Amino acid sequence: MGILDAVLQSSSYVSLLGALGVLLLICLITSSSFSSQEDKREPPGPKPLPLLGNLLQMDLKGFYYTLVKLSKKYGSVFTVYFGPKKVVVLTGYKTVKEALVNNAEVFGDRDKIKIMHEFNKGHGVVWSNGDSWKELRRFALTNLKDFGMGRKVCEDKIIEECHYLMEVLKEFKGRAFDTTQILNYAVSNIICSMVYGSRFEYDDPQFTSLVDRTARNLELFGSSYLQVYNLFPWIGKWFPATKECHKLFAANRKHNLELFSHLKETLNPQMCRGLVDAFLVQKQNHEESGITNSYYHDENLLMTVIQLFAAGTGTTSTTLRWGLLFMAKYPKIQVQVQEELSRVVGSRQVQVEDRKNLPFTDAVIHETQRLASIAPIALPHRTSQDVTFQGYFIKKGTTVYPHLMSVLYDETEWEKPHSFYPAHFLDKDGKFVKRDAFMPFSAGRRICLGESLARMELFIFLTTLLQRFRFTPPPGVSEDELDLTPVAGVDLSPSPHKLCAVSLM
Ligand code: HEM
Repeated sequence: MGILDAVLQSSSYVSLLGALGVLLLICLITSSSFSSQEDKREPPGPKPLPLLGNLLQMDLKGFYYTLVKLSKKYGSVFTVYFGPKKVVVLTGYKTVKEALVNNAEVFGDRDKIKIMHEFNKGHGVVWSNGDSWKELRRFALTNLKDFGMGRKVCEDKIIEECHYLMEVLKEFKGRAFDTTQILNYAVSNIICSMVYGSRFEYDDPQFTSLVDRTARNLELFGSSYLQVYNLFPWIGKWFPATKECHKLFAANRKHNLELFSHLKETLNPQMCRGLVDAFLVQKQNHEESGITNSYYHDENLLMTVIQLFAAGTGTTSTTLRWGLLFMAKYPKIQVQVQEELSRVVGSRQVQVEDRKNLPFTDAVIHETQRLASIAPIALPHRTSQDVTFQGYFIKKGTTVYPHLMSVLYDETEWEKPHSFYPAHFLDKDGKFVKRDAFMPFSAGRRICLGESLARMELFIFLTTLLQRFRFTPPPGVSEDELDLTPVAGVDLSPSPHKLCAVSLM
């Protein structure tokens, strides 16, 4: 072997080594990129179309039904695209609880909705995040409690309002009427007395226009026009519904500013009448102490009040309407409630204290909230940081829908998820039992701020009405014909219907 051979052999040896090295490197790179892909596996979901995402797959009766179907295929954590918007959906009791309760910080931010953001610009309590949200949520909770939430003062206000409501119902003398507007007025007045410090008469045009405008706005927010606007504003801005929404909001803003200016003129810091007074006093205190970056400014006041009014009226009155409708639809259950009420309370006024002695009635109210599932996907949340959840990677800032309806209808939690079955909340001895999967107010950091107020309202309104009236379908309509199909909007309300309130006393 000459020198040349030796050189050739050594060079091929080197190139072989080189080639092996390159191969190893490729292997390393690809394997590490595979493993990082493995670590960052995002929640699965149906393939989206460009621009439209998965919109064409959505059930027109309500996209939350489609989301339940998709969860059967993709599991309890999956991705869908609403147009260009990517959303991670969480379904079923275990998953929703694990996210909202066990990972409360990560899943506790609020996502923006375009039309809402145009109105509130991140002010107020429902659509804000960070320190501003923390401060205002604390302020709202403390003050609603100070002005009676969860206490006797509030109970008395609700009882008083019930009497005004019953006067109106009596005037119908058993004739069929639509329950929507009058229940909205009654429920609204509870928020009014806590926020503004006074209730209003049902024929006060200022009050009725405020309530009617808020109701109409909520109806519009839930319409497909506004949903198109939120996803494709360049199309949606031409819709009359979008323009009407802006108009109604401007009118509500103006009306509230008028109410505030009257409250400012008559403000007595020693005797706050409601949450607005307390806010104005706090604002003054901050100004006097020279605090310049205070959260107690006019926009936060305006948005907090408008949002409490909207969040506290529609939800509760829609639930009451479902309650009365279920009673008319299932007369045997109505009679059982009335028998329990007359046995335990008789003809005196029902009080919150009585609840523990009224297990069947309590179960009926809980079952109403469960089956009505009025907030099927709560309000949109957003992740506050990158997270690996149930093995899936979810990026910071991703929109998350906690699918409350799938919790309230979870087949592994409820014996008869799709029927009105008060026994879900009763043990074998007829005692009331709490159920963990009862989550109509959501859970975690963003849990409904008005839960205790709402629960008190539902109990007092429904029991007092059922003590005095029997609710039936209108003449010529059978119980079977009463339609339980919900109308999809911001919340799930009953289809338009009328009921008769037949006086029992
Ligand atoms: C039956 C009646 C009610 C139901 C079913 C209900 C349900 C809900 C739900 C599902 C949420 C969203 C929670 C989340 O994002 O995870 C919410 C939020 C909220 N609710 Fe209620 N609600 C009711 C009554 C009320 C009342 C009476 C008030 C007024 C005092 C109120 C004030 C709020 C506020 C301010 C928020 C936003 C909380 C935040 O973002 O921190 N709600 N509610």
